[in-house]
Amino acid sequence: MKYINVEFNVNGESNEVMMEQMSKHAYQNLVEKKKGKMTGWLRCDSIVSEAEKKQIKKIAEEVRKNADVLVVIGIGGSYLGAKAGIDFLSNYYKKENDLEVIFVGNSLSEKYLIDTLEYVNNKNFYINVISKSGGTLEPAVAFRLFRDLAEKKYGKDAKKHIIATTSKTTGALKKMSNEAGYRTFIIPDDVGGRYSVLSAVGLFPLAAAGFDIDKILEGAKVTKKEIDNDKYNTNLALKYAAVRNLLYKRGKEIEVYSSFNPNMRQFLEWMKQLFGESECKNNTGIFPASLILTMDLHSMGQLMQQGKRNIFETFINAENENVKKHISVEKDAKDYDNLNYICNKNINELNHVAMLGTKNAHIDGDVPVVDITYKNQNELCLGSLFFFFEFACGISAYMLGVDPFNQPGVEAYKKNIKTLLNK
Ligand code: PA5
Repeated sequence: MKYINVEFNVNGESNEVMMEQMSKHAYQNLVEKKKGKMTGWLRCDSIVSEAEKKQIKKIAEEVRKNADVLVVIGIGGSYLGAKAGIDFLSNYYKKENDLEVIFVGNSLSEKYLIDTLEYVNNKNFYINVISKSGGTLEPAVAFRLFRDLAEKKYGKDAKKHIIATTSKTTGALKKMSNEAGYRTFIIPDDVGGRYSVLSAVGLFPLAAAGFDIDKILEGAKVTKKEIDNDKYNTNLALKYAAVRNLLYKRGKEIEVYSSFNPNMRQFLEWMKQLFGESECKNNTGIFPASLILTMDLHSMGQLMQQGKRNIFETFINAENENVKKHISVEKDAKDYDNLNYICNKNINELNHVAMLGTKNAHIDGDVPVVDITYKNQNELCLGSLFFFFEFACGISAYMLGVDPFNQPGVEAYKKNIKTLLNK
């Protein structure tokens, strides 16, 4: 593949013929066209129309020019992808004049809301409220609070500072936007929250943060060309989905996503929602967990190496972190810390040695390993990874025998909250 490579370190018999048949069947299920099917995201290069893309870039530019902070309000699929993408592409510390993108509406923590309202109050801010249904409690509460703040601060100009991303025709947020005159972006009816990152849901915050959304879409498009087929022998997305299912049948009920790149933390959170919410239902499904290494080797390494053998691990790492220059530790005459022996290696090489050492240790400890590498920490690879995992997840869920696009279990807590609040 152009931007991603996948290798499998899975011992034991695998019935390739059966896996091929199952993945072909799952592929047919995924691409089969049916009324109401939530697979609009498969058209990754045209979920957003050219006109909407132009509008996304224009408003993003306006926000970058006028604001210090963009407050993105949303929960679950309505924020995880944008946050994943921004963290993936950003430097670890923002420059003084960079727009800051902050996320609220994903908890009901009073302190977090108070602190964020106070923080934003002293700055110029825009709001991007994202909710497909328009009725989710957490973002609705945050929107009311931040909308009030915008109205106090900007008076009748407040509506210029609010951009809503929601359904084209239905829901409370759409209705409110029409009445108040907020500018809106669309979440297509056939694109569910956790598959929406390549729509305005993810693209607007990413554009506002200064990233090239054409390249993100280009990366997704190239990857779609490579994997949107049922050729099991060459299709790494089908193989990944098949291997996950094979391991699950062998009792590996937990998949641990591990990355040696700390700016992948949020990407792994996005993966956890994508796979967890798509697959874990009807008393089945692989539990998704994540680690950032080497940090978590000092907290979870013991468990990974010698805990219950019900896990497999999927490494997702950059071949190249896009650093301006490589650094290494300098030779020290006294060498108290005994580090002179690594002076000839840059830190990236050390990280790669750590990856290899960890991977081999875990394989020796009976943890099957899938090794996914992406070429660069850039927009093309980000788009490629988003599409690769959405596609593999759809296939994998159908192989498990579940509908990847519903989430009936999420309703239970919402119902309880409403009952407890006597709504
Ligand atoms: O993946 C999903 O569908 C969910 O995580 C939703 O994105 C989440 O519940 C938020 O829903 P809404 O956008 O309707 O507020």
